[in-house]
Amino acid sequence: MATAIVYTEIGGPEILRPIEIPTPIPAAGQVAVRVEAAGVNPIDAKLRSGRRPSPKITEPRRVGSDGAGIVTAVGDDVDGFRIGDAVVFSGAKGAYASDIAIDASRVHSRPATVSAAQGAALGIPVGTAYQALRSLSVGPGDMLLLHAGSGAVGQAAIQLAVLWGATVIATTSDRRADTVRDLGAIPVAYGDGLADRVRSLAPGGVTAAIDAAGTDEALQTSVDLIADRSRIATLVRGRDAAALGIRAFSGGSPTPLTPQQLAWRDEAVPVALALLAAGRFSVELGPRLALADAAEAHRLIEQGTDGKVALIP
Ligand SMILES: NC(=O)c1ccc[n+]([C@@H]2O[C@H](COP(=O)([O-])OP(=O)(O)OC[C@H]3O[C@@H](n4cnc5c(N)ncnc54)[C@H](OP(=O)(O)O)[C@@H]3O)[C@@H](O)[C@H]2O)c1
Repeated sequence: MATAIVYTEIGGPEILRPIEIPTPIPAAGQVAVRVEAAGVNPIDAKLRSGRRPSPKITEPRRVGSDGAGIVTAVGDDVDGFRIGDAVVFSGAKGAYASDIAIDASRVHSRPATVSAAQGAALGIPVGTAYQALRSLSVGPGDMLLLHAGSGAVGQAAIQLAVLWGATVIATTSDRRADTVRDLGAIPVAYGDGLADRVRSLAPGGVTAAIDAAGTDEALQTSVDLIADRSRIATLVRGRDAAALGIRAFSGGSPTPLTPQQLAWRDEAVPVALALLAAGRFSVELGPRLALADAAEAHRLIEQGTDGKVALIP
């Protein structure tokens, strides 16, 4: 048997509970993975709490998209994986589990120097950052304003944008300014007067903005500073984007991600794995909790914590 975290109603973190499930057997095109770490993402808690609407719950709902572990079985028609391989996966339906069967297309080999917790920290945050930067064509000559630079998405976006030749001004609390600076961005404190502080840091102007904060301030500052609204995107306030004439990459947007945007999100994981292995990319790890403590993990991310929270089965 295996263990999975589920919930059967919308509610607080306490509704998350472990259940026993049959050990997953991979179908054709799938591999089975013994999960060593599952990444805990804000969307997991938003769906659980109902802050992000989801279809009616008709059976125990599994939680979590991102994880890493060891291949335990390989289905028919799968090339490139063997039992015992260390892997990373993303886009799973139920990563908070001891074992999972998942399409091999969503699984990537994990270099020996990349830990399971690092691998489990990649899927959603790095995929989103990578896709947002690609969609906005951020590159050399750009002065990017990034809101929430010290978060998981923000840290990935800083590193990729700098790697791709852009200059990044990233909003942060004072407490986290060094984290953002160490990744290659110019930190700026969020809060009253943000637009003026950004203007003085970027006298030549800001050319693109990504909102991973979701505050009115982040949206307003972006539209005040950038004339071309097609180069402003929110990842959090998707429902407000059209009214502002800016772009949304999901985050509750009524417009789904395009096939190209989804492809970029998928492409990000192997790119990040290669960069991690080469020492050119980092992920900040946060608290690690036992799988059965998923409720506590959600409390932690809802109150805000530094680094990626991982569940360890
Ligand atoms: N659209 C998508 O597909 C997509 C994908 C991934 C994530 N998201 C969303 O993007 C957001 C960030 O995700 P994440 O994984 O990076 O979360 P996270 O790791 O929890 O980071 C959140 C960050 O928000 C910052 N913050 C808090 N208050 C702020 C404020 N008033 N102004 C600016 N920044 C503030 C915090 O920085 P300090 O500690 O410095 O205060 C923290 O680093 C979440 O809302 C998430 O749901 C959307």
